[in-house]
Amino acid sequence: MKTAIYPGSFDPVTLGHIDIIGRASKIFDRLTIGVLNNSAKTPLFSVEERVNMIRECVKDLTNVDVTSFDGLTVDFARKCGANAVVRGLRAITDFEYELQIAQLNRVISPDVDTVFLTTNLKYAYLSSSSVKEVAYYGGDISHFVTPYVEKRIHEKVIKG
Ligand code: PNS
Repeated sequence: MKTAIYPGSFDPVTLGHIDIIGRASKIFDRLTIGVLNNSAKTPLFSVEERVNMIRECVKDLTNVDVTSFDGLTVDFARKCGANAVVRGLRAITDFEYELQIAQLNRVISPDVDTVFLTTNLKYAYLSSSSVKEVAYYGGDISHFVTPYVEKRIHEKVIKG
C-alpha cells in the first residue's frame, strides 16, 4: 500500500492544489492532506475552516482524507504511515525553496521521500496569497477556487 501525505497551509485551497491532489490520488493508494496548524502565521481561515473547505473539494476522491497537524512534516508522515511527501512545483523559485526543505527532511527522516508534481500550466501563476489579495480588493476569484471556497472567502473578506 503506497501512502503519501500532501502538507501545506492551504489558506485557502486553490484549484492548483486540487489539481495536485487529484493527480497524487491516482499515483498513491492513499493520500492524506495535512493542514499545518502554524502558530507563526496569521491565516485568514482557522485550521478547522481550511480542513473543512478541502474536505468539501475532495469529497468524491475515495482514497483521500484531510486532517490538521502540528510540528514536523516528517513526523506527521510517520504518524500517517506514509513514506512520501507530495509537493507541487510552479516555478524555479518554488524549486529552490522546496529542494532545501526536501533535503532537510531527508536528513532528519531518511525513510521519507519528497515527490514533486509540476503544477498544471493552467495554474502556474496561482497562489493562496494572490487569491486573498484579489478577493480583498473586490476582484473576480472564480477562476482560482471552487464555487464553495469562493463563497467562504467572500463571507470572510466581507464579514471579517
Ligand atoms: O503551503 P506551504 O505554506 O508552502 O507549506 C509549507 C509546509 C507546511 C510544507 C512547511 O512549512 C512544513 O513542512 N512545515 C512543517 C514544519 C517542518 O516540518 N519544518 C521542517 C522543514 S523547514
